[in-house]
Amino acid sequence: MSKPEKIVAIKGMNDILPADAPLWELFENTAETILKSYGYQKIVTPIVEETGLFKRAIGAVTDIVEKEMYSFTDSMNGDELTLRPEGTAGVVRAVIEHNMVYDGPKRLWYKGPMFRHERPQRGRYRQFFQFGAEAVGFTGPDIDAELIMLCRRLWDDLGLQNVRLELNSIGNAEERLRHRADLIAYFESHADILDAEAQRRLHSNPLRILDTKNPAMQEMVNGAPQLLSYLGEESRAHFEGVKRLLDRNNVQFTVNPRLVRGLDYYNRTVFEWVTEELGSQGTICAGGRYDPLIETFGGKATPGVGFAMGIERIIELMKGLGEPAQPGQCDVYMVHQGEEAQVQAFILAERLRDAGLDVVLHCATPTGAGSFKSQMKKADGSGASFAVILGEDEVANNVAAVKSLRGESGEQQQATVAFDAVVDHIVDAIVGGHDHDHDHVHYHP
Ligand code: HAM
Repeated sequence: MSKPEKIVAIKGMNDILPADAPLWELFENTAETILKSYGYQKIVTPIVEETGLFKRAIGAVTDIVEKEMYSFTDSMNGDELTLRPEGTAGVVRAVIEHNMVYDGPKRLWYKGPMFRHERPQRGRYRQFFQFGAEAVGFTGPDIDAELIMLCRRLWDDLGLQNVRLELNSIGNAEERLRHRADLIAYFESHADILDAEAQRRLHSNPLRILDTKNPAMQEMVNGAPQLLSYLGEESRAHFEGVKRLLDRNNVQFTVNPRLVRGLDYYNRTVFEWVTEELGSQGTICAGGRYDPLIETFGGKATPGVGFAMGIERIIELMKGLGEPAQPGQCDVYMVHQGEEAQVQAFILAERLRDAGLDVVLHCATPTGAGSFKSQMKKADGSGASFAVILGEDEVANNVAAVKSLRGESGEQQQATVAFDAVVDHIVDAIVGGHDHDHDHVHYHP
């Protein structure tokens, strides 16, 4: 028989292995705690939505919609479906569908996988995870500032340094229209410098040309008319309001007049948190205001603003800080030998779990049940504070041997404890000595 062909993961879609899981947990716990402390509530929307939702929300002439969506026809019923490339469209759909703002504005957060058919590279994947927040029904610059400040709190709590904030205002549709005419005229007068991509976008989405990474176009683009000087009274006041609140709260930022974002739903405030530590994919969080979006979906005119962060990119930054301090895999490792001892080990393990402890029970592997010695090695490697040992003698005497593996002075002490007293014995020993609190972030370099 020929060897079966190996199946591997889809290119650009990654496994998150147990070795990295503590960092992911640390990120998610910290982010969720912060979002809760600002009054944000969790929302979960489907990974698959109608293709039309993203086309309308993100815009037909964007990289995402033009070439990055995983879209397909459901062969069961002919529906046109897409794996969500981002979270805002789905959240906004849910807000309208469930009439969520009928009793006032809402602060929401979400996390989950997103899908974009991009060319994979460091920090850019085809399945990636976002952690995002959307605030719907708030008009003022205060909520924009709040969203930005809660990001800063998250970077601080995670210990991330060298993350900076770029800010811009792209005004409203009318202001952009006036700017657009001058922008096109400017680009046309420099037609010889425009690359193929820019020429293609000249009349469909000229604003995105400002975003170009082409070094040959930088100087020309730097001299282009700036949207900021086309802002009317209200947009200008809103932007000043955001900047004032950030200033007064010591949030540092730079205004980047070329920051326009790659999705069409934005107006007024846009922002990105960027780092130089991740190479070309250095934006760890991005967002902005999208006031007209809900109305274009047939909802009652309701303003919105939000952000999403790329979790893989943040994990990469966290890796540079070292391993998070974690308790071991478990509190207690159960070592046993013999048929009756195994039954007793199961019973005791359940009682210990009832008492709130994490317990790993030794189970057979292809090399067998394992000698006491090899089981004790596993117990040591598990990071457990205690090994509970049950053999024929212990069963006959209705006791268990309890061995402390992480004594204060490093020495391992063993006690013989009555079977029914084992739970109390271990709980008493662990209380005070063991930190089950994951809220505070510590790293081991
Ligand atoms: P976005 O800029 O397309 O915005 O994505 C937000 C963040 O997701 C990026 O800054 C990056 O960290 C991460 N990200 C995007 N694409 C990839 C990828 N291929 N691989 C790894 N990470 C990636 C949005 O998605 C908007 N929905 C944000 C928003 C929410 N605006 C308002 N509310």
